[in-house]
Amino acid sequence: PSALTELVRSHVREIPDFPAPGVLFRDITPLLADGPAFGGLVRGLADAYRGRVDAVAGLESRGFILAAPLALELGVGMITVRKAGRLPGPVIGVDYALEYGTARMELRPETVADGQRVLIIDDVLATGGTGAAAVELVERSGGEVVALAMLLELAALGGRRKLDGYAVESVLVY
Ligand code: PRP
Ligand code: HPA
Repeated sequence: PSALTELVRSHVREIPDFPAPGVLFRDITPLLADGPAFGGLVRGLADAYRGRVDAVAGLESRGFILAAPLALELGVGMITVRKAGRLPGPVIGVDYALEYGTARMELRPETVADGQRVLIIDDVLATGGTGAAAVELVERSGGEVVALAMLLELAALGGRRKLDGYAVESVLVY
């Protein structure tokens, strides 16, 4: 495993039965709270994408924590893909299925330039619904999805299958 993978593995906390019985929750707050670790993570991600992307799209809300410093480190802008009802219009939206119920992500298409190479980033890839919605929003806005960078991938939930044909690059896979 790479140094970046080890850095993440050693700073993630595992919480049984959160937020519901039977769920093993992977908590990244210790990683964020450790200045050198957080800095090393952002620099490591920047090294992987430098020169390959024109913008970084963060997925609300934990994706924002990663997207903003990464965009700054790369010297590009940040696009916010937000939960329904948060962005002033005009917006486009994509509804997707959750384990129970549905959710909706929205994007202001004006924040994506035509042909812009976009890196989508989030903290966790679980069922893949959020990532797939983000891909659709970026593409409908004229952007080209270079890759989806995920800090953690919960492989048992099969999210990668919803992102067939896209480069899903996870730092740590469980
Ligand atoms: C979590 C996580 C991802 C998404 C992954 O976000 O941060 O965005 O779920 O799940 P999926 O692959 O099954 O779609 P959450 O909705 O908990 O929001 P938060 O970031 O605001 O905590
Ligand atoms: N950790 C953080 N976010 C999540 C998880 C998890 O284990 N599962 C779904 N979203």
